[in-house]
Amino acid sequence: PASVARYHAKVIDHYENPRNVGKLDKNDADVGTGLVGAPACGDVMKLQIKVGEDGIIQDVKFKTFGCGSAIASSSYMTERVKGLSITDAAKVKNTEIAKELCLPPVKLHCSLLAEDAIKSAIKDYQSKREKRLAAAAAAS
Ligand code: FES
Ligand code: FES
Repeated sequence: PASVARYHAKVIDHYENPRNVGKLDKNDADVGTGLVGAPACGDVMKLQIKVGEDGIIQDVKFKTFGCGSAIASSSYMTERVKGLSITDAAKVKNTEIAKELCLPPVKLHCSLLAEDAIKSAIKDYQSKREKRLAAAAAAS
């Protein structure tokens, strides 16, 4: 039988009232999309950022098909990185999320999913931007 984990109130709050659920247009040149999965359980998280010319994250949306801790971790991540530069957002560690939400050790990989997702979204944004700059340079 599965053991019943006791969840911290902050996890329940983010789970019941997740912030920034939804999606951004992935074809928008300023939008980066991160789609990651947890090999341990098969849960999937999609996190998208919209970045301004100044490198600041203006908007964040997520959709998580997974457990409560993964939903809470991604919800927390969206609030944490909104308004940050992509450089600073890439430095947000899963250990910070786990600590903030008081996740038990067995749920650490759920917070890691959120770290992977933001990093992957930033990477996607940067590669789109590089392609755009290269195309502009080639055209001039
Ligand atoms: Fe089933 Fe995470 S293992 S929801
Ligand atoms: Fe796998 Fe939470 S149990 S992401």
